[in-house]
Amino acid sequence: MPSVNFAIFFIVLSAIDVVLSKAELKLEDLQWENKSKYKNPFYVKKGDSFTIGCSLRTPFGSSVTDYLLEWLVNNRVFQADYDSDFEVTQKKVSNNLISEFSQRGISESYNLKCRPRGYSNLEISKQIDAISMKIEYNVDDPLRHNEKNLDFNCTFNGITDDDIEEILWYVNGKKIEEKDGRIYKISKHETYSQFIIKHPKISEDAGNVTCQIQTKTGNTLSDIVTVSSEPHVEFEEERSKNLVQGDPLTLKCKVSGSPAPTRIYWKSPKEQILNSDVDSRVSLKDSNATLKIKDIDFEDKGTYTCFASNSHGEYNATITVRVKDKLAALWPFLGICAEVFILCSIILIYERSRKKKDTENTVDDEAGDKLTNSNDNQVRQRRS
Ligand SMILES: *[C@@H]1O[C@H](CO)[C@@H](O)[C@H](O)[C@H]1NC(C)=O
Ligand SMILES: *[C@@H]1O[C@H](CO)[C@@H](O)[C@H](O)[C@H]1NC(C)=O
Ligand SMILES: *[C@@H]1O[C@H](CO)[C@@H](O)[C@H](O)[C@H]1NC(C)=O
Ligand SMILES: *[C@@H]1O[C@H](CO)[C@@H](O)[C@H](O)[C@H]1NC(C)=O
Ligand SMILES: *[C@@H]1O[C@H](CO)[C@@H](O)[C@H](O)[C@H]1NC(C)=O
Repeated sequence: MPSVNFAIFFIVLSAIDVVLSKAELKLEDLQWENKSKYKNPFYVKKGDSFTIGCSLRTPFGSSVTDYLLEWLVNNRVFQADYDSDFEVTQKKVSNNLISEFSQRGISESYNLKCRPRGYSNLEISKQIDAISMKIEYNVDDPLRHNEKNLDFNCTFNGITDDDIEEILWYVNGKKIEEKDGRIYKISKHETYSQFIIKHPKISEDAGNVTCQIQTKTGNTLSDIVTVSSEPHVEFEEERSKNLVQGDPLTLKCKVSGSPAPTRIYWKSPKEQILNSDVDSRVSLKDSNATLKIKDIDFEDKGTYTCFASNSHGEYNATITVRVKDKLAALWPFLGICAEVFILCSIILIYERSRKKKDTENTVDDEAGDKLTNSNDNQVRQRRS
């Protein structure tokens, strides 16, 4: 019975295998999760949260349940309490055992180790470095119109220049390039990065300003400040608008500010707040930023004002609307027509009178006698 023999042989072989492999756990089986991305040390901004993973590849034939990963903080086996800021989880992914160590709101640096329980000489180690980082800026809130410049310093502590890959600045999520059309200036110093916006615009520069440190070890650390401002209002179109009687009027008001304005309204040239209750031709859209008036008339001409307000005040912008007669556009055309008509008439009359004169002259000079003769003949014929 060779098949039974073979089966027994294999069972024995795998049993030996399990015993052997459990004993033969090697250091290269133990790795930091996403090792290619993160190097040592692992930088975290003070107050931020982070998660770091440790992965154990269990040898062929063994079960992941044969192992347990444990963590050491400053060389002491770590025990997560219930309501602490730390959490440890463990999961199996095929024949890997993965343990993740999380901390909420880090306040100081420490050494972190991961090892399979019972293997005191088999561990991997990482330095967790808590760095302080903070943005400060020169303006007292809120940012007002025509401020000379906005000056930010992003100071950091606990990381050396050697470990900094790049420091980036963002305004409302947009990465700042010094060669942008606007006047931006970024300068890097030993313990801070300075960012200056010359002649800041509320419409572009108020809001969230972020300083981001990218480390050579693969970490990204950032701090954010919200620059509050007065509201700002401007028109998308030119300073004035020309319309013809009966046209619809559409005005778009570009509103900005930090916090974003919550109240937007319009005043007519007669200083009346515009809405559909006051005038059924009026409609408002985009939280009142777009004003529409159907069937515009002479009385609607004048200066329109758009107002916006937030917690820091109110701001307005005006635009002049001119309304022309419906036939106004026709008058020049009619004028040209009349001109052409008169010109043609003059030419025609002149031509006619010239022809008449020419004919008269010919008659006088040459055909005078003939005509008289023929007339005479006709007369004679009629007589006869
Ligand atoms: C490792 O990378 C994977 C995929 O990018 C991601 O889902 C996982 O959260 C990362 N783990 C850690 C601890 O960063
Ligand atoms: C930023 O630092 C520079 C140099 O120390 C200083 O002149 C400037 O006033 C600082 N700006 C702010 C907003 O703190
Ligand atoms: C600024 O960030 C806060 C959250 O930090 C967010 O609620 C807000 O919408 C952001 N503002 C802008 C203008 O992006
Ligand atoms: C829009 O305008 C109307 C009428 O002026 C006003 O009652 C309402 O509060 C405005 N809404 C907003 C979002 O400003
Ligand atoms: C509009 O704003 C200007 C200042 O920009 C202010 O002088 C004026 O009084 C405001 N108009 C109204 C109607 O509030």
